[in-house]
Amino acid sequence: MSIRAMPLAVLLVITAGLAACDKVEQLQFQKVTFTEDVYPIMQKHCAECHVAGQQGAVASGFLMESYESVMKGSRFGPVIAPGSAISSSLYIMVAGKADLTISMPHGKDPLSAEEIETIRVWIENGAIEN
Ligand code: HEC
Repeated sequence: MSIRAMPLAVLLVITAGLAACDKVEQLQFQKVTFTEDVYPIMQKHCAECHVAGQQGAVASGFLMESYESVMKGSRFGPVIAPGSAISSSLYIMVAGKADLTISMPHGKDPLSAEEIETIRVWIENGAIEN
């Protein structure tokens, strides 16, 4: 079947699919680092509540002060499972996959799709200190 013969709806679905893949692939091939990509997102959206003495840190024990403290997690244990974003409570909470009452950042605008994807790719790549 030639492209011309495809119903318009099919073409539109294919195009939308390709565009979505493109964005993900760009990030996967682009090097995502903790220092230059992930940590600045945490500083911008999370640190105000997750440094010593602030509400997020006091309530959960989760500090975002360094790579070590991010990997240590909260008083309930790690919030990042290296290699699996979907098993990482931190990712689930920022990606809008958790109940709104526990979504992060608490009571603030959600992260952009690109910021969420940056965190996902970093975790999938092993959540290393790069
Ligand atoms: C306005 C304050 C605030 C901001 C901003 C904030 N948090 Fe939180 N965070 C909290 C509070 C409070 C808790 C304690 C749990 C609760 O009450 O939901 C918490 C708990 C958490 C936990 C759960 C730890 C556990 O295992 O119990 C994670 C993970 C987390 N935050 C990640 C983030 C991330 C990532 C960001 C930035 C995208 C962020 N938070 C921004 C206030 C905040």
